[in-house]
Amino acid sequence: MKERILIIDDEPNIAWLFREIFGASYEVLSAETGREGLDAAMHYDVDLIMLDLRLPDANGLDILKDLIARGCLCPIVIMTAYGEVKTAVKAMKTGAHDYITKPFDTEELKFLVESALKYSRLSMEVTRLRHELEDKYHVKNIVTVSPKMMELFSVIERISASDVPVLIQGESGTGKEIIAKSIHYGSPRKNKPFVPINCAALPENLLESELFGYEQGAFSGAHKRKPGKFELANGGTIFLDEVGELPLSMQPKILRVLEEKEIDRLGGTHRVPVDFRVVSASNKNLPGEVLKGAFRQDLYFRIAVIPITVPPLRERKEDIPVLAKHFLREYAVEQKKPVPELDDEAISTLLSYPWPGNVRELKNVMQQLSLLCDGKIIRKKDLPVFFYDPQFRLIENRTGDTGASTTDGVGLKELKDQAWEEIERHEIQEALNLFDNNRTRAAEYLGISRRTLQTKIKKYGL
Ligand SMILES: Nc1ncnc2c1ncn2[C@@H]1O[C@H](COP(=O)(O)OP(=O)(O)OP(=O)(O)O)[C@@H](O)[C@H]1O
Ligand SMILES: [Mg+2]
Repeated sequence: MKERILIIDDEPNIAWLFREIFGASYEVLSAETGREGLDAAMHYDVDLIMLDLRLPDANGLDILKDLIARGCLCPIVIMTAYGEVKTAVKAMKTGAHDYITKPFDTEELKFLVESALKYSRLSMEVTRLRHELEDKYHVKNIVTVSPKMMELFSVIERISASDVPVLIQGESGTGKEIIAKSIHYGSPRKNKPFVPINCAALPENLLESELFGYEQGAFSGAHKRKPGKFELANGGTIFLDEVGELPLSMQPKILRVLEEKEIDRLGGTHRVPVDFRVVSASNKNLPGEVLKGAFRQDLYFRIAVIPITVPPLRERKEDIPVLAKHFLREYAVEQKKPVPELDDEAISTLLSYPWPGNVRELKNVMQQLSLLCDGKIIRKKDLPVFFYDPQFRLIENRTGDTGASTTDGVGLKELKDQAWEEIERHEIQEALNLFDNNRTRAAEYLGISRRTLQTKIKKYGL
């Protein structure tokens, strides 16, 4: 298909000239008024617009602004009469690609049109590549062969174009956030921000100013106006992570924003409209929280129009080997090392492990292994000891262990528990040392949530 040049000029001989010079190689469209020009630019896919500054019905500068405001991405070249250079410069500042003065020098015109079209091709290419990257980065990097997960993605695909609120439930590390991102990047809002709010990590007294922002002077310390997260997400997606941790006192405020799509900045005098889609995630069972009275039912119904549950890794074991290989490859490529391979026995050991930290834990283990065994075969004995010896598992990691009680005061179970606790305490201390007391990283390393880690730090007085 020929590339298209749109001429917006009321002098018919200009369009005629373009057809003479470029008609053989390009399709030349022409419009005689600003209005017609705008319509043509919106209706036809054009690759270059040549815009006269003086039009019968409008100022060329206004048409230029209008074209840009309507999302016109092709280069726009201004045509000016001799002596209008100042206006042409203004047009360039507004977003015009270049300008040329009348009467045209044919060689100059040819050069300018060719280079503007080249620019147009390149920027199209960049846009295409960006989309490709986006896809790769945000959707295609979700690795799964599990039918349960495929089903979940088919639900996501069906609702991707709409704004319905989605609640993603699942254990820690199952991939809730990566799924939330894929919902955003698969939606028409993908070029606008994806703004995560970690409802568990915000102290209650800061929650409001973080979410709704504040005006200058709203309180001592508010030196300048600060937009809140809802404002930052304008046009995009708000991700309410760990929404089950939202304090009861905040829940009505969030509900109000979701319902009215307007926010009250602290110290503000009027309400500000905001446009966002809401995706939430929780590793708690929210309906259970509603029954317990810890989560408002009205808020639940508002955020959980489409509830989806990500199955834990142990319920989609088929994903374990593919994810393990995927992460090993990823780390090897990152470090420019050969990709290590897992032997059959190592794979079956991975398959029999319960993965309480789910994909995140698997990812961490693969990272450690890739550091230790670059390019080699990974065998069962290379895996961390707790994989094949349940005695060394974190207490939380045990499954189906009821323990047996003896009659003499301290039961066998208690004894065992003490031993477990000792091991656990030791592991946590090591992880904290390893990461300079950075709790987030230590929790990641251990494959438990930050919250759990915090509880345990308190319990052991570390
Ligand atoms: N299917 C998958 N394919 C590739 N990587 C994945 C997949 N699922 C999860 N991951 C990776 O595992 C890690 C944990 O995932 P994510 O942060 O999305 O989990 P989460 O459910 O939000 O966890 P938490 O409840 O602890 O916040 C991330 O690094 C993510 O990129
Ligand atoms: Mg998360």
